[in-house]
Amino acid sequence: MCHSCVAGGVHSGASRRSFARFLAAGAGLTVLAACTPEAPAGVALSSSSLAPSATSASPSPVAVPSVESTTAAAEPPAQVPASPSGALPRQFSLTDPASPWLVVNKHRPLAPADYLPADLVQPNVPLAVSGEAALLNSTTAAAAEAMFAAAALDGVSMTLASGYRSYGTQVATYNGYVAARGLADADTASARPGYSEHQTGWSFDIGDGGGACGFQPCFADQPAAVWAKANGHRFGFVVRYPWMFHPITGYYYEPWHLRYIGVETAADMANRGISTVEEYFGVEAAPGYP
Ligand code: DAL
Ligand code: ZN
Repeated sequence: MCHSCVAGGVHSGASRRSFARFLAAGAGLTVLAACTPEAPAGVALSSSSLAPSATSASPSPVAVPSVESTTAAAEPPAQVPASPSGALPRQFSLTDPASPWLVVNKHRPLAPADYLPADLVQPNVPLAVSGEAALLNSTTAAAAEAMFAAAALDGVSMTLASGYRSYGTQVATYNGYVAARGLADADTASARPGYSEHQTGWSFDIGDGGGACGFQPCFADQPAAVWAKANGHRFGFVVRYPWMFHPITGYYYEPWHLRYIGVETAADMANRGISTVEEYFGVEAAPGYP
């Protein structure tokens, strides 16, 4: 966990007014820029042949099938149906923003950059936000409802803290980070406009309805985050930016940021001990913008 590096972070350079503006913009504010963990030993930073890791703490590259960068893996995960024509159904595209297998990162912008999901809905879950930030695409919303209900049955309080963000909102969010922390720091915590999963409706940030750890490193140890990390895959979710995988994902640990990729896929990742979608789908690591 990143407890030893909790610091003033974004707040150190931002006024209360600008902080409030970020929140209003749906920003997932963090202080993780102060957190600069070492890169996992042996991780290739720009390889397209990164592999599943045995543990989340110390990934080690293993040869995996190379992939064509704009579609699904050449030797894709087992659940991809065989197709005589070789064409893959939309849900297995790695580039279509409407695909649950979309991989968007600092090397893989959304196309179009101003993509707008066609099926945004508000899930029936405890909300910590309103407006567009309370929306998800319909598939993610249904999965979130099931997950939040299961968490509640286990006595875990979970809230939707930041869901969909339009391109325009991401402009405001990212610019707020840059103003507060500078460009380099901002890029470790907030996606540039056109590069955020939040714009697809496939991702959302969770909270626990209280406490001081919202969007903070200490959230990793709160029941909501612990539960989501252990159980999210049962509902199709992964913790998209895991601890110590920033050389692959491009972002420091965000225990609150969940991404829907489908139940079979998330379960397969969990069973195989694969921590990032980059490794799972065999696309290159994206530690920074080209
Ligand atoms: N915080 C994540 C990386 C985003 O801005 O989409
Ligand atoms: Zn997020």
